[in-house]
Amino acid sequence: MEIQLEIVPESERKAKPDAALGFGRHMADHMFVMSWDEAQGWHDAAIKKYADFSLDPAAMVLHYGQAIFEGMKAFRGRDGRIHLFRPTANFARMNKSAQRMCMPQIPEDEVMKGLRMLLEADADWIPDEHGSSLYIRPTMIATEAGLGVRPSNQYLFYIITCPVGAYYPEGFDPVKIFVTDKYVRAVPGGVGAAKTAGNYAASIMAAVEAQKAGYTQVLWLDAVERKYVEEVGTMNIFFVIGDEVVTPPLTGSILPGITRQSVMQILEDWGLRVVERPIAIEEVFAATENGQLSEIFGTGTAAGISPVGALHYNDRDCTINGGCTGQLSQRLFDHLQGIQYGEMEDSHGWVENI
Ligand code: COI
Repeated sequence: MEIQLEIVPESERKAKPDAALGFGRHMADHMFVMSWDEAQGWHDAAIKKYADFSLDPAAMVLHYGQAIFEGMKAFRGRDGRIHLFRPTANFARMNKSAQRMCMPQIPEDEVMKGLRMLLEADADWIPDEHGSSLYIRPTMIATEAGLGVRPSNQYLFYIITCPVGAYYPEGFDPVKIFVTDKYVRAVPGGVGAAKTAGNYAASIMAAVEAQKAGYTQVLWLDAVERKYVEEVGTMNIFFVIGDEVVTPPLTGSILPGITRQSVMQILEDWGLRVVERPIAIEEVFAATENGQLSEIFGTGTAAGISPVGALHYNDRDCTINGGCTGQLSQRLFDHLQGIQYGEMEDSHGWVENI
């Protein structure tokens, strides 16, 4: 597939943000787009100016939510090169989401080529400061106009990027988490393992209630018994209990995080015991009370490694590690960032240089 390259002239480029980056506020100058229909497959691939799309009001994504996305990051290494973290894992996961949502498979090699071209076009958008990066958002939406419920016959795939700092207002400081058993995120047999827009839409009400109560994020429990921990709003979750690091298993209702998998690998490389098993919220509180639980941290592309300082569940509160960042969370944070910025050995070949 040929990818057209339409570079935005210098005079039409946007000013770079000069204040704190925050997350997802400033979009770069270019985007990658390509279209799909049954007759042509993927076609009209181009790098072009970041701009509005024109969508029919009956476009199926607007009614039935066939929308999937990914999140990955490019880092500016000390060597000045661009380091892209595990992009092939993200595109492979996107194809799993596409399959679940009855959307077409993306050609992973072609899309990777498009991403490389995009990053070359917007290389000056990749921030230099440690802790910041270029967040990359591949997305696919159903664009056919029609009101019947069935798979769309037309899709748009695009990649947009934006320079980002920390996802949470706390930065790398521990976040406070609200455990909900009033709402659920995903049910067995549902779409919890797919990175589809509706999962996030369904999470917003609980997140708003948690924020009103003074918490940064929601920790979801399983939908059947409302007892076992699943994941946090924008990250997977790990508990350090005794000499084990415990994380819930991927049972189909949890997002198979790429940072989650990377962290499990790093912990194993360090000779630590990582256990994927169901963990009840009651066990978490009991282990905190009897001193067995030393740390909780979340993992995600946007969130990175995010220590958890406090949990609230019904009328109970617990503080983790005195509300401070634990040793293991700090070590993981430093190690993962070290790999991502090209300052530590990338023994698993996770980083692609552009
Ligand atoms: C990510 O971590 O990349 C996510 O997609 C989570 C969130 C920003 C939606």
